[in-house]
Amino acid sequence: MNQRTQVKLGVNIDHVATVRQARGTQYPSPVEAALICQSAGAHGITVHLREDRRHIQDDDVRALRAVLSVPLNLEMGNAPDIVEAALDIVPEEVCLVPEKREELTTEGGLDVAGNRATLGRTVRRLEEKGIVVSLFIDPEVAQIEAAAELKVPFIELHTGHYCDASPADAERKLNSLVEAAELAHSHGLRVNAGHGINLQNIDGILRIPFLNTLNIGHSIVARAVLVGMGAAVNEMLNAFARDCDDAERKGYPL
Ligand code: PXP
Repeated sequence: MNQRTQVKLGVNIDHVATVRQARGTQYPSPVEAALICQSAGAHGITVHLREDRRHIQDDDVRALRAVLSVPLNLEMGNAPDIVEAALDIVPEEVCLVPEKREELTTEGGLDVAGNRATLGRTVRRLEEKGIVVSLFIDPEVAQIEAAAELKVPFIELHTGHYCDASPADAERKLNSLVEAAELAHSHGLRVNAGHGINLQNIDGILRIPFLNTLNIGHSIVARAVLVGMGAAVNEMLNAFARDCDDAERKGYPL
């Protein structure tokens, strides 16, 4: 089997919840979206329970944990209430990420090298519950070595700087991801990657060696809005047609 066919896809469904929270409705349901991803062949589902609860809510995580047959990967900051929520819900996997309230999305990797002790305590508590822990880091030697020292099974490499790079800079950024994956592998770490991946940059991303899972969110949800738009319009037009048939049957003027 070649490198490409082995890579797994984890779909991050946060932005399904973003659409729901924008109007305070019950829909679209992240659980329904996750089940569609699962049926379509996704190998895992990822959600980020942010401290400000801007999209995914605690109840979403609990509901996903109950219904999914593929693993649930919970992205989270190392904040006390979020750690308690994770220890209570017990997803299969946790990916620890840095989190700033004012950011639009996770902006950089964790400073594992500068926070070994605090991160180490959280890693051990999660692992005692049987949760598989991953650390989201930039492709930097010091961070990879610190992750190896903490003896986590997985890192997730931050691909955002490559995905957002200008064409002149892209090759250099991709090389740093390739070298980081090689170094991580040599330390016995398993390698996931994510952030900013879309159909335009996926071929470059797949040149990174030793990939286990790619976590992809925004581009898939954005694409789903467009490929699903025609079907959604048809559903509404069919509802109009049903109403016309009804009115005709009841003899109302059309
Ligand atoms: N991996 C991590 C650790 C993330 O924080 C995110 C964004 O929530 C993703 C993957 C997915 O990134 P994107 O939505 O850009 O595909």
